[in-house]
Amino acid sequence: MHVARILLGVTGGIAAYKACELLRLLVRAGHDVIPLLTPGAERFVRAATFHALARRGPSDEPYPHLQRADLLVVAPLTANTLAKLAHGLADTALAEAALAHAGPTLVAPAMNSRMWDHAATQANVSLLRERGVELIGPEAGELAEGESGVGRMAEPDAIARRCEELLRVGASLQGSSVLVTAGGTREPLDSVRFLGNRSSGRMGVELAAEAHRRGADVTLLAANLEVEPPAGIAVIETPTAADMMREALARAGADIVLMAAAVADYRPAARGAGKRAKSGERWDVELEPTDDVLATLGAGRTNGQVLVGFAAEHGEDGLARAREKLAGKRVDLIAYNDISRGDIGFGARENEVLLVSPDGERRLDKAPKRVIAAEILDEAARLLERRDGRAHSR
Ligand code: CTP
Repeated sequence: MHVARILLGVTGGIAAYKACELLRLLVRAGHDVIPLLTPGAERFVRAATFHALARRGPSDEPYPHLQRADLLVVAPLTANTLAKLAHGLADTALAEAALAHAGPTLVAPAMNSRMWDHAATQANVSLLRERGVELIGPEAGELAEGESGVGRMAEPDAIARRCEELLRVGASLQGSSVLVTAGGTREPLDSVRFLGNRSSGRMGVELAAEAHRRGADVTLLAANLEVEPPAGIAVIETPTAADMMREALARAGADIVLMAAAVADYRPAARGAGKRAKSGERWDVELEPTDDVLATLGAGRTNGQVLVGFAAEHGEDGLARAREKLAGKRVDLIAYNDISRGDIGFGARENEVLLVSPDGERRLDKAPKRVIAAEILDEAARLLERRDGRAHSR
């Protein structure tokens, strides 16, 4: 089993004693756990107990909390530290660790149910969720103060099981190379004007971020992104269809290719030098077809690469056209979405996708693009595993 390094944050709630059990389970599973107790937690439990259970002395390392880790888990998480994590405060070693940590984060809130229900706490929870932090619990039941309601920390064995799942997913693409394209190409008419499209690049950026979280070596071909690319991956600017083709061909050996970019199908046949001056005359522009990057990769692949295309379609026969693309471009999977709907697709934070493969279709319910990205990668990883299984049995 892969030995993971886990940062275990413990904050000042009565449930802090249950974190000892969680720590014991994680250590028993063979992981290297670094306990980080807040001063509030130390009012309930002793750091020495945690160090003994983690089989680590207080570290000689001056910044143990800033070591790279595969997972950060905070249990219990008080309303106070939850607010700090949501707003990026860094006044404890745990809060600093959370800012420095780029991997998966699991938190188990525990507090009085009225504190949990408060709009401020709920707004902080939304902020954390949007950033990809996963919550487990809190659960309904009897609370320490004698009230009952939602606020109990999830049970240590449930938290430990979720840690294992997150670690498995986090390592699922380790050693694999993933090429993602994102954004919309702009085809120049002259030195200032272009023909472009409405793709923001959000879907492709979420795919790249998710592949990175799963341990892949990720390259993002970025065409005029309106959103920030994720940290920690290689980003290559490919503003035009020709740039995208050149850079994609240079990386055609990638294990997984996710072609989320909206690549122009046509470009102006002639690009004017400088800026064309206004003349009052008609300006007829002749367009010529671009080469299809996805179809070129589909025709040329030899290594069993997993190739995923995207189809933005509208109208009743959209699905039929997506199926045609699947076969015509020789790809493994098409993520199809209906762009006639204003609430999903272009620029939106959410998406609803139909995954079309030779085996059939699977609907991914409307969800944030980060969640859709995770589902697409689950599917791509399954196809990659199938390929590797075949390669091994040869
Ligand atoms: N694509 C590509 N190169 C192009 C055009 C499209 O690689 N020159 C890829 C897109 O990145 C996407 C898929 O092909 O993954 C489908 O793109 P789309 O524009 O929907 O399909 P087209 O083949 O262009 O067909 P049409 O515009 O007629 O629907």
